[in-house]
Formats: sequence, structure tokens, C-alpha cells
Amino acid sequence: MKRIGLLTSGGDCQALNAAMRGVVKCLTVSGEKVEIYGFIDGYKGLIYGDFRMLTGKDFSGILTIGGTILGTSRTPFKTIRVPDENGLDKVEAMKQNYHKLRLDCLVILGGNGTHKTANLLSQEGLNIVTLPKTIDNDLWGTDMTFGFQSAVDIATHAIDCIHTTAASHGRIFIVEVMGHKVGYLTLNAGMASGADIILIPEIPYDIDKVIEAIEKRHERGSAFTILAVAEGAISKEDAALSKKEYKEKMKTSPYPSISYEVADQIKQKGGYDIRVTVPGHTQRGGSPCPYDRVFASRLGSEAGRLILDGEYGFMVGYRNREIVKVPLEDVAGKLKMVSPEASIVKEAKMLGICFGD
Ligand code: F6P
Repeated sequence: MKRIGLLTSGGDCQALNAAMRGVVKCLTVSGEKVEIYGFIDGYKGLIYGDFRMLTGKDFSGILTIGGTILGTSRTPFKTIRVPDENGLDKVEAMKQNYHKLRLDCLVILGGNGTHKTANLLSQEGLNIVTLPKTIDNDLWGTDMTFGFQSAVDIATHAIDCIHTTAASHGRIFIVEVMGHKVGYLTLNAGMASGADIILIPEIPYDIDKVIEAIEKRHERGSAFTILAVAEGAISKEDAALSKKEYKEKMKTSPYPSISYEVADQIKQKGGYDIRVTVPGHTQRGGSPCPYDRVFASRLGSEAGRLILDGEYGFMVGYRNREIVKVPLEDVAGKLKMVSPEASIVKEAKMLGICFGD
């Protein structure tokens, strides 16, 4: 008999349900008797003892459904040791609820912040297995996170749609792509949709180089240009500022996001008419793409196997085309970023894509 807790934390993404279904299917198919406690809205549910008892039936028919049947919320790691407004010690509360329910293991699905707390709980003696979710693909220890490929599909489709109208009007368009502080999503969606200029946080841009790339296209007879700009893209000047200076600057920025700043600079310096499109949270929505359904199911089933074997303290990840277990302490607190030296960046440059560097 295994008593399992499940929770999804942080921003949602596609295939969270597929991953949980994978865990539960693996456990039930094994013949092991299982009791499943689903904590509502992420760590909040564990802190305040808000859970639902679930059965295999709750996981039936959810492979293709986006979002999370458990709900999610952000509980920032930096506040986890700060007592709540009633003086409740959140870490102690989570431990108490875990022990009160006599759980054998807690399965946590999340991204970077979530993994810091998962590692803390593991160090506090709870049996933890985690699964890597995020559209950003920025989690250390795994080559891929589920949600990423689905988001690439959506962002690509958004840029594809912009492409046709940009070509008809001979316009310059920026499509702003999510990804927080990393550029995987923008790089992949940008390449998939034939963007001419791709700006990512890992390669600070020089606006003159961006304008030069637009001008070159004009000289070659292309009246339109598509820029895929990561929401975390940064100029060379801003990248040279200290964190504090940059934060101060952003406080007084008149622009809603970086794309509007880039657009304004292109307009002012280059004299071009330019439009900005921000697909925003659509990139996290809808049903998972087939890749993510398969991938999340594989990760989920491996998590189930770890639980059956009593192997705890791991994230189930993917490295060199193999599903692997990665110690939580190796994952927590590290960001996986695009290397400017990566072969995909070099290949993109060989295709004529400008990174503004
Ligand atoms: O981490 C996933 C992500 O979608 C990022 O790409 C984005 O920066 C952030 O979450 C948006 O967060 P929120 O949903 O809290 O606005």
C-alpha cells in the first residue's frame, strides 16, 4: 500500500495532467494498492492541508487536457521561511500535513522555484519525487521540460500568422515570446517560423545591428521583417548595468515590455513603421502537443517506478535521449540557459538570422 501526495506548483503548462496520469497509471497497473491525496493550488494546499482524495478515475480522460486538475499557484521560495500573516511556519506546516496523512511520498510537478522548495522538503526528511514542467525549458538537469514543445507550437503558429500579414503590408513586426530569463522558446519558435531577427536574453543586442539587418533585407527587396523577441531580451547597454541599476531603470520605463522599447528604437532610429504582437499566456494554454503527451507520460511512469522502488530525492529528467533520475540538490537553484556558443545558435546564424550581436 502506497499513500501518495500530488501537487502542481508555479505557472501552469501543457501536459501537467498527462504527467500525473502517468504516475498514477504506473502505480495502479503495477497492482500496488494506492491512496492518492491531491493538494489544491500547489504548496498552498500542502501548507494549509487543503486536499482531495483522488482515485484512478480522476486521471482518466485527462491525457489531452491542458492546465492542471489540481490547480496551481506561486509560493515564492524566498517567502517559504517567512511565517504567514497568522504566524504559521510554512515549512513546519507542510511537514506536519505530510506526516499527519502518513504519506509515503510527495510527487511535485514544477519549474525552478518549485524545485528549490522541493529540495528543501527533501532535506527536511520528506520523500520527494519531482517532474520538470515549464514552457521555458530552463530547468537544470534535464534537456527538456514538458510544456516546452507545446508552447513552441503556439508561439510558432502566432509568428506564422503574423508572417502572412507582414508580407502583405510590407511591415516590420515584433512577436514577443515568453521564456522568462531564457531564450529557448524564442529561439525555437523563431527558427521554426522563419523569423529574420531573434533577440534572446543570453545574447544582448545592439539596436544598430538590428536596424542594419532590417536595412539589408530592404536592400535585398524584402519589404517586411519578422523579429522574435524574448520577453527577457536585453540590450548591450542594459546588460552592462548592475542588477540594482537595471531594476531602477525598469521602474521608470515607459514601455509595457521590452518589445515596445525595441519597436520604439527601430522607429526613432530607423524611421520604420512597426507593430508589436504579444501572444502572452496563450503560450501556456490549450491541450498538450503529441510530443508533450508522450514525454510527460514517460516521465510520469518513471516517477511511478521510483516510488514503487522507494527511490526518493530525485527529479525525473531527460538527458541524451534517456529518461534519467537527477538528485534534487543538483537541480535546485540553477538555471539552464542557451549558450551563445551552442551549435543551434551557430546554425541559425548560418541561415542568416540576426541575433543583434
Ligand atoms: O515560467 C513560465 C512563464 O510563463 C514565463 O515564461 C513567464 O515569464 C511567466 O511564467 C509568467 O508568469 P505569470 O503567469 O505569473 O504571469
